[in-house]
Amino acid sequence: MIDKIKSLVEDIKQSQTDSAEKLEQFRLKYLSKKGEISQLFDSFRTVAAEEKKVLGAEINKLKQLAQQKFDEAKENLENAAASNDAHDLTRPGEPYEVGSRHPISLTKNEIIDIFNRIGFTVSEGPEVEDDWHVFSSLNFPPEHPARDMQDTFFIEKDPDILLRTHTSSVQSRVMEKTQPPIRSLFPGRVFRNEAISARAHCIFHQVEGLYVAENVSFADLKQTLLYFAKEMFGAETKIRLRPSYFPFTEPSAEMDVSCTICGGKGCNICKGTGWLEILGCGMVDPNVLKNNGIDPEKYTGFAFGMGVERIAMLKYQVRDLRLYFENDVRFLKQFKSAY
Ligand code: PHE
Repeated sequence: MIDKIKSLVEDIKQSQTDSAEKLEQFRLKYLSKKGEISQLFDSFRTVAAEEKKVLGAEINKLKQLAQQKFDEAKENLENAAASNDAHDLTRPGEPYEVGSRHPISLTKNEIIDIFNRIGFTVSEGPEVEDDWHVFSSLNFPPEHPARDMQDTFFIEKDPDILLRTHTSSVQSRVMEKTQPPIRSLFPGRVFRNEAISARAHCIFHQVEGLYVAENVSFADLKQTLLYFAKEMFGAETKIRLRPSYFPFTEPSAEMDVSCTICGGKGCNICKGTGWLEILGCGMVDPNVLKNNGIDPEKYTGFAFGMGVERIAMLKYQVRDLRLYFENDVRFLKQFKSAY
């Protein structure tokens, strides 16, 4: 029996295992249930007790040798297969995903484009502001509720440093360093201390518009906004202005557009009224011009401010504002447009 084991050791060492077929033959010959090594174990049972110790150890060594050779050869074959793959230049490439712009950016860009066409430029201002630019220069009385901690995020008190609650602060920044004519748009992020819900968020985006020159009238405001509404929501769109109040405009108004879903008949989006509110506007208050170094006897102007999330909701029929901030690509990649 010991001779048999020795010749098997030699055979195993000599065996070719450099292909999948040869390796399988090797396995069948030595390691399978009916293979040489199993047979050895079978005949081992009949061996005399005093020989068992030596022979047993030899058979086990033999088995280990065969198993080791098999494992190594298998691993080599697998590695070779993997590295062949890596160099297969004919394999199709990994497809790569093309990103898309965020719906808020698309909407903002579209608003800017519409006003660019009638001569509005774009300016920006800081998000962290002082009291003067957000409130005082814009004619907010000292006791106005917007100055309350409840509505505004303060960074420092006395003197007050805060996150701007509206882009109207940029009106002030632009007027204090530019003499009319001014015809500009101020897009940006704004911050309000509000509970987050489907309709409200503590961070959102506005686009502000300002036109200051000689003889700017309310009719100019109305015509400009009608043009915007038709470009943004379609040629059929109607507008209406409702009297309102802002400290920095006089007179002030809120503008509604005819419902983009039902066209004015009444539906659950417009709550049966046929109208949707989209922005605040008015004639720049003479006090605001004066506060910012512009002569109110010579110049008049109009201003308006709209929420970008709101416009995007109406345009794309998004029902929950929070979707804009969750960054779920299944939501985000639905928006394709020229902007
Ligand atoms: N700043 C106002 C708001 O945030 C909107 C507005 C802008 C109103 C300009 C009138 C003129 O609600």
